[in-house]
Amino acid sequence: MFFLFVLASADFISDINLLWGDERAKVSENGQLLQLSLDYTSGAGFQSKEEYLFGVIDMKIKVVPGNCAGTVTAYYLISEGDAHDEIDFEFLGNVTGEPYTLHTNVYTQGKGDREQQFRLWFDPRDDFHTYSILWNPQQILFSVDGIPIRVFRNAEGLGVPFPKSQPMRLYSSLWCADDWATRGGRVKIDWSNAPFMASYQGFQTDACVWLDGISSCSTTKGSWWDQSLDSEGVIKLKMVQEKYMIYNYCTDFNRFPQEFPPECALKP
Ligand SMILES: *[C@@H]1O[C@H](CO)[C@@H](O)[C@H](O)[C@H]1NC(C)=O
Repeated sequence: MFFLFVLASADFISDINLLWGDERAKVSENGQLLQLSLDYTSGAGFQSKEEYLFGVIDMKIKVVPGNCAGTVTAYYLISEGDAHDEIDFEFLGNVTGEPYTLHTNVYTQGKGDREQQFRLWFDPRDDFHTYSILWNPQQILFSVDGIPIRVFRNAEGLGVPFPKSQPMRLYSSLWCADDWATRGGRVKIDWSNAPFMASYQGFQTDACVWLDGISSCSTTKGSWWDQSLDSEGVIKLKMVQEKYMIYNYCTDFNRFPQEFPPECALKP
């Protein structure tokens, strides 16, 4: 662990709205477990009741097990409107025995195209793992089980907008994306394995809650507010990226033959 924060535990009854998919989104164990399922008719999704403008958010997720090529489990923060900000984790399913891809992206002012993808050091189908977002004015840090996998630094100095003025809500959904998710759409969902299910536990936040234009952090802020990776964290991040990153927009010459996006010049 590079940061140890005491996060308030939230629960899926008081802090989450089941958004779509009817009975395919369900909460049990006194609000401690949430499950989304996907069948031929529909997927399902939920959203946080609160909107946040900066914070640390942890969620334990166990992605769709078994033969689930073509499913996408998305877990993300997003603001409203056209020039939206967004911080994405997406789990792209695969056939039994083949690895999942963890896809990440960051949108600022409506512009994304900042994909980084990973093959995790474990199979996310086997168990719950903690996926965390630490979002403060300096950076967005993605971590898995407390290990940093990606940093999106504030590059306003280089002319890149940073998400800092639009509150975001947390969403997660499970749906069928067999048109693109698995091998560019060549592997279709095998519906004989439905319903597919993703499970969530351990929802915890220490965030600035935005309500009627006022941030709960205007008076007190958590210690995460001005944290960035320490040197040990940077070493760990580099190691993870060397071993587990399978795609990085910042090194994709085909896509950016002239020059890479400005934020790519920043070191973590
Ligand atoms: C599924 O597994 C194959 C074979 O290992 C791999 O090439 C492909 O990228 C995987 N698909 C996803 C969505 O990760």
